[in-house]
Amino acid sequence: MLNTNITETTPMVDILAMAEDEEDQSFEDRFESAKTLILDLYDLQIIYSSAIKEILTKLEILNDEFATTHSRNPIHNMKSRIKTPKSVSEKLLRKHLKLNVENAKEKIDDIAGIRIICPYIQDIYTIRRLLEAQDDLQIIREVDYIKNPKANGYRSLHLIVAVPVFFSDHKEIVKVEVQIRTIAMDFWASLEHQLRYKAPNKDDIPEDISKELKLCADTISQVDIKMQDIHNKMLV
Ligand code: GTP
Ligand code: MG
Repeated sequence: MLNTNITETTPMVDILAMAEDEEDQSFEDRFESAKTLILDLYDLQIIYSSAIKEILTKLEILNDEFATTHSRNPIHNMKSRIKTPKSVSEKLLRKHLKLNVENAKEKIDDIAGIRIICPYIQDIYTIRRLLEAQDDLQIIREVDYIKNPKANGYRSLHLIVAVPVFFSDHKEIVKVEVQIRTIAMDFWASLEHQLRYKAPNKDDIPEDISKELKLCADTISQVDIKMQDIHNKMLV
């Protein structure tokens, strides 16, 4: 729909090369299924972008309502993104799953992603509670990397939510990954991501650097807690 001009020269050949160890399919068959998948994934983008719109609208309404009652916004800003067909396909291959749209929909929870940045730690849980209270939205999975930070110091609340999207002739329940974090957590995660990307081996940062980054994450977390304390004191 968005781009039907998929040919042998599209970057998808990289992915096919990665899939080459699948012995049960000829190269031509693999190429055909990859081509179909890309086209299907382009079609899926409308569904995922609609789901993102639904959730962003809900969040904007909640943010506005909170501002009228509390004179401030619990959401500092929001970003969203949709995984490209290429990156969806790469993820399917990483998970050793067949390249088809059903697997993409069922097994990949972050085709659509929203990141919500909040001023204070408590805002994160306010947003979570307000989302949970919406009766047409379901939290289907949750990982709290704030209560249980990752070993490298990463902090954020991750939710996989499901929302219905209504089209003219059918309804689809669509999964969206929602990451909620403070400005401070986002500061660390953004820079850590950049640094990791620059490292020669992306997932293998030298140990002394990892330690320093972890120290930064912990320091930032203490500041986050302190800022929350100050905010709470200002309220009384
Ligand atoms: P994938 O979704 O396949 O990556 O695996 P997963 O679901 O186990 O990952 P998880 O839910 O822990 O993380 C998903 C997303 O969170 C990533 O794509 C990043 O956006 C973010 N994230 C997780 N860990 C880190 C981290 O250590 N550093 C940074 N900067 N971001 C992270
Ligand atoms: Mg994930």
